[in-house]
Amino acid sequence: MLAYLNGQFLPRSAATISVEDRGFIFGDGVYEVWRVVNGQLFETERHLDRLKFGLAELRITAPDITRTDFLRQIAERLLTESDLLEGEATLYVEVTRGGAPRTHNFPPPGTPPTVYVTVNRFKPPEELRARGAAAITIPDIRWLRCDIKTLQLLPNVLAKQAAMEVGATEAWMIRDGVVTEGSHASVIGVIDGVIRTHPTNNLILPGITRSVVLDIARRAGIPVREDAFTEQDIPRLEEAFLAGTTTDVMPIVRVNEQVIGNGTPGPITTRLHTAFRAHLDASCAAGHAQPTTA
Ligand code: PDD
Repeated sequence: MLAYLNGQFLPRSAATISVEDRGFIFGDGVYEVWRVVNGQLFETERHLDRLKFGLAELRITAPDITRTDFLRQIAERLLTESDLLEGEATLYVEVTRGGAPRTHNFPPPGTPPTVYVTVNRFKPPEELRARGAAAITIPDIRWLRCDIKTLQLLPNVLAKQAAMEVGATEAWMIRDGVVTEGSHASVIGVIDGVIRTHPTNNLILPGITRSVVLDIARRAGIPVREDAFTEQDIPRLEEAFLAGTTTDVMPIVRVNEQVIGNGTPGPITTRLHTAFRAHLDASCAAGHAQPTTA
């Protein structure tokens, strides 16, 4: 597998960074993950906008990779040389504040950010989707800027591990009694026929899949309320699902010991997954038809 690191293409095993990189020392950076279908990135601009927002919030100068044409060029070469132009893949971009002797304050002006890009083969978890997945609940111990997609993912790592250790797929994080989101996906529920999910503020990542799925639901006439449900509401959930780049729409059929609905993927969830999948395929196919700006 090929990687891009600071202007160079090289085998991933040969890509190395300084031990003084602030990503390594402080988790001082941001990342993005794109879904790729047949060589085309899904929602290129929305992910780039979120990356630029995170960089601006952290006051890291936006590198070239935040430009659409530059990103497309890098993506095309990585996907081509990694034999990923057909089928599904993910593209990962990470930007850190760069390498400099360890000080908590920023490094000297002009310290170049570290830019790392890689691609991976992706296989959507269809078997799990058909049966539906289980989730646990866990306290949301994260900081108050969860809207920035930073590299500091320790609470998310511990949450996902706790889920895996009891055979569940995701951990729903609870802050002040409210379900915020999963370790790496948005959480969406259905109560009284209404889609409910945490509003986009500083307590969750503004998920791009979340946004696309809510648009699809509204267009289909399904009522949507961007109003979080609570831990106490969990027994009232008629349906629940995760939304994320690597999960698409994933039905949740059990939370802790609570069975959701009748314990199988619900009708709204299934409908939204079908519509989302069609949208993903259609927009990536349309991307093929567009003249490349690279
Ligand atoms: N995670 N919430 C969190 C905390 C996430 O980390 C993610 C994505 C999402 C869903 O966002 P989107 O629909 O834009 O992918 C929500 C990525 C996939 C990851 O960390 O690998």
